Amino acid sequence: MDMLSIKNVSLCYQTPEGETDALKNVSLDVKQGEFVSLVGPSGCGKTTILSLTAGLIRPTEGQIFVDGKRVDGKTGCDVGYMLQRDQLFEWRTIRDNVMLGLEIQKKKTAENVEYAENLLIKYGLKDFFKHYPGELSGGMRQRVALIRTLAFRPKILLLDEPFSALDFQTRLSVCDDVYAIIRQEKKTAVLVTHDISEAVSMSDRVVVLSPRPASVKNIFTIDINAPTPLKRREDPGFSVWFDKIWTEVCV
Ligand SMILES: Nc1ncnc2c1ncn2[C@@H]1O[C@H](COP(=O)(O)OP(=O)(O)OP(=O)(O)O)[C@@H](O)[C@H]1O
Ligand SMILES: [Mg+2]
Repeated sequence: MDMLSIKNVSLCYQTPEGETDALKNVSLDVKQGEFVSLVGPSGCGKTTILSLTAGLIRPTEGQIFVDGKRVDGKTGCDVGYMLQRDQLFEWRTIRDNVMLGLEIQKKKTAENVEYAENLLIKYGLKDFFKHYPGELSGGMRQRVALIRTLAFRPKILLLDEPFSALDFQTRLSVCDDVYAIIRQEKKTAVLVTHDISEAVSMSDRVVVLSPRPASVKNIFTIDINAPTPLKRREDPGFSVWFDKIWTEVCV
């Protein structure tokens, strides 16, 4: 079953300065439980695809469906959106940061609070409930941000360069952590990244977009059989996929 279906979507931004064609006839289906990455030249329209999927903007042409429902701005709860910066509030404890999404969406039921607390415990943050974000490492903060997004049980996770603010070492281990959480929770995920090695190490499929206005240039199914992103990086097939995708992005 398709969790996300983008059908012939075009988007033209209208501003007082003029029009910008960002997407041209983009079609993409993402299956339940699948992990798909979007790569493409800077400014081609990657974030625009996520913003449309989250219902923050509407397509100029075409349609988008999440779990069979047309995205119309009211489907917000079905979609979890995680950004480059973790957006944690420094004056709230880790527990209270994680509860924030539930509070805003008026879903702070005993059952949902327990679910969120269990996620924190399950993913190594048991001892940090009462700590503040400033006391955590960058990697731990990203884990908290992901758990906050998962707390309201979105059907699909949208990740917009969530690791790019981290140093290389941290980034590798956070990729492993985030990958494990997304897989264990059986979430469907769409990751935008500039980093082709990150895309190859985490994804079932990598979608290469053309320069702006973005269209789907090619889709690669990554057939590396290894349990974690770090192990996938060690696989002999890794550099083959990297080279293929690199070439496709650059030509
Ligand atoms: N709100 C907006 N109003 C007008 N133009 C916009 C708006 N948001 C994005 N654009 C333009 O649309 C194009 C695509 O932007 P988008 O942010 O989707 O690209 P991107 O691939 O995510 O870029 P990057 O790789 O830098 O993150 C760019 O030319 C950008 O200037
Ligand atoms: Mg972007």
